[in-house]
Amino acid sequence: MQNTISGFSKLSKTKKIDWLLNTCFDNNDTAKKVVTQYWNSDEKLQKLHDEFIENTITNFYLPLGVAPNFLVNENLYTIPMAIEESSVVAAASKAAKFWFERGGFKAEVISTTKIGQVHFTFSGSKTDLQSYFKTIKPQLISDAYHITKNMNRRGGGILDIELRDKTEELDNYYQLHATFETLDAMGANFINSCLEQFAETFKAHAKTHKVTNVNIVMSILSNYVPQCLVRAEVRCKITDLKDKDIPDPITFAENFKQAVSIAEVEPHRAVTHNKGIMNGIDAVVLATGNDFRAVEAGVHAYAAKDGKYSSLTHCNIDNDIFCFWLEIPLAVGTVGGLTSLHPLVKFALQMLGNPSAKDLMKIVAVAGLAQNFAALKSLTTSGIQQGHMKMHLMNILNQFKANDEEKKALITYFKTNTVTHSAVVEAIEKLRS
Ligand code: MEV
Repeated sequence: MQNTISGFSKLSKTKKIDWLLNTCFDNNDTAKKVVTQYWNSDEKLQKLHDEFIENTITNFYLPLGVAPNFLVNENLYTIPMAIEESSVVAAASKAAKFWFERGGFKAEVISTTKIGQVHFTFSGSKTDLQSYFKTIKPQLISDAYHITKNMNRRGGGILDIELRDKTEELDNYYQLHATFETLDAMGANFINSCLEQFAETFKAHAKTHKVTNVNIVMSILSNYVPQCLVRAEVRCKITDLKDKDIPDPITFAENFKQAVSIAEVEPHRAVTHNKGIMNGIDAVVLATGNDFRAVEAGVHAYAAKDGKYSSLTHCNIDNDIFCFWLEIPLAVGTVGGLTSLHPLVKFALQMLGNPSAKDLMKIVAVAGLAQNFAALKSLTTSGIQQGHMKMHLMNILNQFKANDEEKKALITYFKTNTVTHSAVVEAIEKLRS
């Protein structure tokens, strides 16, 4: 059993590491080496990273890869992807190339409204509450002016505030349900600051309007943003789907559509199907300094919007035209947060031509669609393991500390042999004996 420690966050980084090594690693030198070898030699840069969160002891690397040849609305992008899963970037690149040769991706932002709520309880007269809300609404907005003035100047801000009666669902429960336009910012801090101001104003004047016992429970943005929507699509003639892996495009298109239909009706499959989409989405969201947990939560809620968890992509074959699309809610920003702080985020955004939030929504959606296309293409033709294990080969070789020469020999060998964990182990042993 460990002893608890108080005041840990106030210790210096060295002291924190000493405590950790002593408490969890028996002062083991290897553990110390692991922690310190990931420090950046540039002290200023390391300090920047240390200060992103509390109790930082070192950095945790993820590979940053790039997937070139993404044609989106006639613009060519190289997409940055931060992800650990071996086959994701390769799959994205393959899908990009495939669709580049067939007209590229089309993407459009359908809407950009974000939501925040002040949740409160009230047990008095509904009519008094409604009439108080009507009176106080302009002041809710004007009292928040010190927060909204810059956003207003740029064309965003508070769109509306509604009083919502939720008492049918939970006794005495009401909301101030507010909508916002946050332009190029993801807007979490902006929205939360506005909401806390609404709550203060709402509470402060309630009594003088005969509305007693308003109890503010919490004020927080919603990560469910079904009115902040983007759609990405690919389409081509079925016959144009033909390539070296697709000798029979008609059968391919039918099977592909069937695979999407299965994900539409079967939640077990839908979760894995959507997980593959999120492989692409999260990787770009992370590389561009956005909050992938917020995106994940909102996207999965959207997948269940009709009361049953379902596919985020859809496929249609009409008049010999194959059409495959994705529609998702996506609250991302290209200003604020990490975007101007993290050097690699700045680098990733520059790689994308410093996009607006709307353009980033399109790029992220395209990455998700491409990933799903690549997965379904493999799943409905060769199966997923062939490509996946080829990419995973390097991980296995590294596990066995293969040197460059061994890697070269084994990569050549596995070009024509099936990669399985045991086959690789066997091949390494044979090579070494
Ligand atoms: C693996 O990370 C993702 C897939 O399972 C997605 C899918 O099944 O569609 C390949």
